Amino acid sequence: MPGIEIRAPDDFHAHLRQGAPLAAFARRHAAGFARVAPMPNTLPPLATPAALVDYVASIERAAPGLAVIPVFKLIPGMDENDVRALAEAGARIGKYYPAGSTTNSGDGIRDPAEADEALGAMRDLGLALAVHAEEPSAPVLERETAFLPVLDRIVRAHPGLRLSVEHLSGAAAVRWVEEAPETVGATITAHHLCFTLEDLLGESLDTALYCKPLPKSGADRAELRRAACSGSRKFFFGSDSAPHEPARKAAGAAGVYAAPVALALLAGCFEEEGALDGLEGFIAVHGAAFHGLEPNRGSVRLWREDWTVPEAVDGVRPLAAGRTLRWKAARSA
Ligand code: NCD
Ligand code: ZN
Repeated sequence: MPGIEIRAPDDFHAHLRQGAPLAAFARRHAAGFARVAPMPNTLPPLATPAALVDYVASIERAAPGLAVIPVFKLIPGMDENDVRALAEAGARIGKYYPAGSTTNSGDGIRDPAEADEALGAMRDLGLALAVHAEEPSAPVLERETAFLPVLDRIVRAHPGLRLSVEHLSGAAAVRWVEEAPETVGATITAHHLCFTLEDLLGESLDTALYCKPLPKSGADRAELRRAACSGSRKFFFGSDSAPHEPARKAAGAAGVYAAPVALALLAGCFEEEGALDGLEGFIAVHGAAFHGLEPNRGSVRLWREDWTVPEAVDGVRPLAAGRTLRWKAARSA
């Protein structure tokens, strides 16, 4: 079976949720990834040292083979002492959610000035900032582009702060990242590389593909593919795997369960772009370098094999359910 073996990958953006479902989601992640940055939009949020330490321990208990990069949630008014205490508890990344932008973001930042003191402390302590870059008051397809002035403001106000724009979805944001200083990078998901708004809405509504930010046009996807396959160290993988139980999904929750299919989708995308030799950089090298982490040990094997994505995985309808994919992936020892 033709295949490739590359360094075990990182996922710099995933939702492993909390409570009983967490164990299955963490183990699913461990089947493909050596390390994960789990997002802090739990209820209550991961915004205190105790909550963060507990959460990391619960993932390590459930999936001992999965290393965790601790991420805390920025809450309006957090001060320097709060950030220092989180850093001492192991935090490496702070996540900025504009209030009202996505799942459980009602307690997010309303105005970037509310985060200035925390962001200054993060820069001084060497923590990275990850941003959900959508302006909730803008029309839904324009939210990412409408947020770029806020990113400009953050970069100007906090030079030297490492900033990752999360789940890039549009051409304007890709170009913004490319033109930004070297301290700015971005994650890109497998679904934004593989699908467009047509796949989500064109034939019938595919709720398994409904997420924030929305997948956009073919031209946007082409720019994302160009960036991911360019070899630029600014771009690296974050799955934004975001499982929702069926009842919440039926009620309209945004988020795709990408973990079971992400590596297969990525291999197909990089193969189509004639860039399979760049896949390792995108999933296992660039992000670790950006975040100042050692590269993972071990490897992942990817091989050509047709399979149809099941309708349910871990009690959730996964991304690409019912579609036939051409690659499979599994971590080696
Ligand atoms: C994520 C979730 O459900 O937690 N949803 C999504 O559509 N991506 C939150 C997020 O990353 O925006
Ligand atoms: Zn997310």
